[in-house]
Amino acid sequence: MGLPPGEVEKKETDLTIRTEMKITLRLVMSVFGAVMGSFLFGYNTGVINAPEARIKEFLNETNIKRDGTPMSVDTQTNLFAIIVASFAIGGTAGGLLAGTWADKFGRKNGSLLNTICGIASAALMFFCRMGVSYEMLIVGRLLGGICCGLITGLTPIYLSEIASQNIRGALGVLHQLGVVSGILVSQILGFPEVMGTSDLWNYLLGLAVVPCILQLIILPFCPESPRHLLISKQDEANARKALIALRGYSDAEEDILEMKAEDEAQKSEAKVNIWGLLTSRNLRMALILSVVMHLSQQFSGIVAIFYYSSSFFQDAGLDGDTAVHATSGVGAVMVVMTIVTIPLMDKVGRRTLHLAGLGGMFVFSILITLTLTLQHLVPWFKIVTIVASLVYVLFFALGPGSIPWLIVAELFSQGPRSAAISVSVLVNWVANFGVGYAFPHMKTSLGDYSFIPFTGFLLVFFIFIYLYLPETKNKTFEEISSTLRGGGNIREDKNARRENYLVSYKSTENP
Ligand SMILES: *[C@@H]1O[C@H](CO)[C@@H](O)[C@H](O)[C@H]1NC(C)=O
Repeated sequence: MGLPPGEVEKKETDLTIRTEMKITLRLVMSVFGAVMGSFLFGYNTGVINAPEARIKEFLNETNIKRDGTPMSVDTQTNLFAIIVASFAIGGTAGGLLAGTWADKFGRKNGSLLNTICGIASAALMFFCRMGVSYEMLIVGRLLGGICCGLITGLTPIYLSEIASQNIRGALGVLHQLGVVSGILVSQILGFPEVMGTSDLWNYLLGLAVVPCILQLIILPFCPESPRHLLISKQDEANARKALIALRGYSDAEEDILEMKAEDEAQKSEAKVNIWGLLTSRNLRMALILSVVMHLSQQFSGIVAIFYYSSSFFQDAGLDGDTAVHATSGVGAVMVVMTIVTIPLMDKVGRRTLHLAGLGGMFVFSILITLTLTLQHLVPWFKIVTIVASLVYVLFFALGPGSIPWLIVAELFSQGPRSAAISVSVLVNWVANFGVGYAFPHMKTSLGDYSFIPFTGFLLVFFIFIYLYLPETKNKTFEEISSTLRGGGNIREDKNARRENYLVSYKSTENP
């Protein structure tokens, strides 16, 4: 004891220098390995659109091979809808399971184990033609959904836990970058002249095996999340090793201390399961915010753009095939814009970017409605509609596309984190399914006014998030969760705690 306060001050300065972290090879590998999962999710989401006609033909042929009778158009449509929907159903189940999975197997090993599910799914989809079985296709999509539901939980937790706080936002965005890249690649491979309308549709679906294989090769060389090792598994030695490997430090004491401080603060509230999370008053605000963030992503109406874009482009005078190509332009805008937001996330901050994104989407959704309704009076408004919808996509990618995925892990400390991820991922999948299901009906009943409900949602979400979401950039998990618990002067509490740790650490070092 009896360490002069100056010593502690110096340690604090060390910490600030150190968080300018090195990008180590191990970190790059770990991020790449994890993001391959996000890519798989995007790929499986987008891949089913292009080969629709081929798959329906396959259903008909399968029936003929089995009992000699062709399948009616109605049954084909229904079965195809089941094939599409089974992915979302699997995803919902996977999302619900993700938290328990992440705690039981670990973030990295959980992802590694999940590749089995991904490979089995790809194999079933690939071999369904040889097996003359659409049941295989349905089960394959269901398994693929479970796998991707787990990924949407595991990858954001892993990324947020291996990052040091000053690049946590940037790493978090990479999940969404993986997703939109996966969608774009599936759209490009689905082009009529690539694999879309050819006889290769089962190869197109089966290619989902590639990201799984890459994960299987890379992940064994990546460290487990140090935070999971230390706080959940109480395995300090391996946590230290993982930190050193990921951050390139010669020693990792500062980070260990920060995690221990978090652990200490959580001691009173033990491991929280989903039920505990739903009923805890302390965690209620964080939970509501997480759910609202995910709803703001799905109810922003981005799904509508994907539905509408081909018809926009056709209205503007492009023919069918060209419109399909132009639609992938929307995907490309998302990829580029998501890359642009990587450095912004830790500079500008999550709150600002998300609000800017929602605000911009609000304004441009109004513009889209106006130009849609007036375009029969003013022909060049068709072009304005296209431009407005591209800008709308830009604003989506600025914040609402990526931030919900990364912020949930930040709003909770280690104890309730995985349960919170489960709940919000579940909400995301259900909302996605709901909007995807409801939008075609909205389009039929509201016509050119079908964006108006989204305009309303965007306004409500903007106001709510403006009022309640704290900024999370450059804060420790402990600081963020104390803010949400309504804790008073958090930084000072925390500094006091770190000081205590440093003092006791120093005193054990040189008694
Ligand atoms: C099913 O296939 C048969 C034989 O190729 C064809 O005559 C029939 O029109 C197809 N039915 C549908 C609904 O596509």
